[in-house]
Amino acid sequence: MPIRLASQFLPSGTPAKLWYILISTALQVTFGCPQKPTPPSLSTRFPMDILAAFAEFESSALAAIAAATDAAGIEKVRIEFLGQKNGRIRDLQKLVGSAAPADKPAVGKRFNEVRTTVSEQLEVRQQQLVAQASKAASDFDVTLPGDRPRLGRLHPITQVIAEFRELMGRFGFTVVDGPEIEDERHNFEALNIPEDHPARDPLDNFYIACASATHGGPVLLRSQTSTVQIRTMEKVAPPVRIVSLGRVYRPDTIDATHSCMFHQMEGLLVDRNVSMAQLKTVLSQFARSFLGPGVEIRFRPSFFPFTEPSVEVDMKWGDSWMEIGGAGMVDPAVFEAVGYDPEIYTGFAFGLGIERFCMKHFAVDDIRRFYENDLRFLSQF
Ligand code: DAH
Repeated sequence: MPIRLASQFLPSGTPAKLWYILISTALQVTFGCPQKPTPPSLSTRFPMDILAAFAEFESSALAAIAAATDAAGIEKVRIEFLGQKNGRIRDLQKLVGSAAPADKPAVGKRFNEVRTTVSEQLEVRQQQLVAQASKAASDFDVTLPGDRPRLGRLHPITQVIAEFRELMGRFGFTVVDGPEIEDERHNFEALNIPEDHPARDPLDNFYIACASATHGGPVLLRSQTSTVQIRTMEKVAPPVRIVSLGRVYRPDTIDATHSCMFHQMEGLLVDRNVSMAQLKTVLSQFARSFLGPGVEIRFRPSFFPFTEPSVEVDMKWGDSWMEIGGAGMVDPAVFEAVGYDPEIYTGFAFGLGIERFCMKHFAVDDIRRFYENDLRFLSQF
């Protein structure tokens, strides 16, 4: 036994404490036990450690105070460092208690200094922030006009379209839409425009070459809203009373009165015993409702493949006449193309240029203004 062995080499009368040290050392040497580090006893804390903790507290508190930017921020700093319950100052207090009795007066003094410095700086910063906030509040002049939010507005063409829909709705016309990409049946054939008609010339239309293959036949950007007459009559049985407002496309040379894209309002009324007098009444009532009671409408003989008879429609507003579109009685060939019986039904149709009305209404002298997206122009409406 190691203890026995060790005691054999020691003179009798060796004090008990020495025995203990010798035996435990022998045990550690023999069995290779690792030496446990002795935990620092509270009563033997070195004052240098404590002072370093004070310094760390002080510098981080002062940095946090300087970094606070408002009342809420500085209050958070106060609670973190000086809070009565869980503030870091409580740890420092414990450290004072752990100092050796001889060091206590010096350590306590330093503790007080640190606490005073931090409290004072905190108060100074608090006052600064209060002053700053009240200055900012007094710099704000509540009597100054505010920054008005810039409100968007509807494009003049969109405004006119909305009003046309509303007016025609009051005359009992339902608003319908149609596609802007069309096939030849709806843009030409069913409208009685034969293959050799000049209106079908590829140079006068925007055919979409890449879409033709997938569609199984030629397709184009519609050149007129009359397409919607066909689409409607294919779907519903008479009577019909519709308008359709939308874009049409033609490769025209662009100038003050022409654009390669513009808007039309198409109208179609089909019933028994429809007359041209009704057509003229509807158009003049519509024009008067939009521009005023002094407006007159006149018809000039014309030709369209889908109406018989056909007319050009002119409108007198002020002292001058202006052409606003075409109209006529629906050609029996069109009724046949959609399966309506021309012996029973008659109808009228019209197509008006929306830009014409819009330019007259808002006194705009150049159609190009509508499409340039110039805010100086658009914000006037
Ligand atoms: N679609 C014709 C065009 O764009 C206008 C037109 C004329 C429409 C006579 C009609 C109509 O409905 O009956 O030039």
